[in-house]
Amino acid sequence: MSIVVTGATGALGRLVVDALLAEVPAGEIVAVVRDKEKAAALAARGVELRIADYSAPETLTGAFRSGDRVLLISGSEVGRRVAQHAAVIDAAKAAGVAQLAYTGILGGPDADFTLADEHKATEQLILDSGLPYTFLRNGWYTENYTANLTPVLEHRAVVANAGEGRIASAGRADYAAAAAAVLTGDGHLNTAYELSGDTAWSLAEYAAVISGLTGETIAYNNVPAAAHQEILVGAGLPEAFAAILVDVDEAIERGRLAGTSGDLARLIGRPTTPLTETVRAALSALPAA
Ligand SMILES: NC(=O)c1ccc[n+]([C@@H]2O[C@H](COP(=O)([O-])OP(=O)(O)OC[C@H]3O[C@@H](n4cnc5c(N)ncnc54)[C@H](OP(=O)(O)O)[C@@H]3O)[C@@H](O)[C@H]2O)c1
Repeated sequence: MSIVVTGATGALGRLVVDALLAEVPAGEIVAVVRDKEKAAALAARGVELRIADYSAPETLTGAFRSGDRVLLISGSEVGRRVAQHAAVIDAAKAAGVAQLAYTGILGGPDADFTLADEHKATEQLILDSGLPYTFLRNGWYTENYTANLTPVLEHRAVVANAGEGRIASAGRADYAAAAAAVLTGDGHLNTAYELSGDTAWSLAEYAAVISGLTGETIAYNNVPAAAHQEILVGAGLPEAFAAILVDVDEAIERGRLAGTSGDLARLIGRPTTPLTETVRAALSALPAA
């Protein structure tokens, strides 16, 4: 039996493999990837590669073996993911895996925003498959925001339509550590975890954190949904994706990403990474102006 991570060349997947390598020998870890070249560094560390594409079910035959503990990292192609995930679940079922962990979204079946739809459908497919499952219902990565620091510093503003809504984000590495914990530990089958940071913060507080760390005055501009949509499209985002982000902000305003169940800190055995720490790291990684 192996521990198998799909999406292992993605940002989260790489961190999951890092966390696994700290716990188990490389020979017990398998990375399912669609691009072998991109996975060269994983292979160099002794991780077995299996090549498969969620969109090509025939490539998934052989991706899993009986008794494997599998992490399905949700795909990144919004709108195509239910069919893609169904193909992975079918392959896992055919192989007879011992555990199928899945990275869903905070709130699970109660999440009432568009981006959650594919995650809810995937969880249902997994339940229907009868496979032993672990649902890792991930809240927001803090990096969703810090990835955008350059325009924030340029315009001296965080722009959103989330009002005073709060976000219990954590670092991507925190979520990766939780995934590694459920893949290497016992007692996680047929369980759903609501994973989020220990502390929920507002975007006004986020702007204040950036101000404090940079010495610049960074405002929080809360704009109407339609105006935010226009700004995002003006910045080059496709209409449909901009609409999804605007919808997420409305959900944030309703408190949907604010839950602090403590599941994440409990799984990783330490507090989650504070907002300020992730912002500080992202600021120091920016190219010098
Ligand atoms: N909680 C959050 O805040 C948050 C934010 C953004 C996304 N997400 C979700 O969490 C997932 C992981 O996050 P991330 O930051 O690691 O995203 P990411 O860097 O975009 O990684 C996505 C991974 O999925 C793989 N993938 C996508 N389509 C595939 C396909 N058709 N066949 C095989 N593999 C495929 C990608 O392969 P390649 O490496 O070959 O591209 C990549 O390894 C995302 O895909 C998304 O579903 C969550």
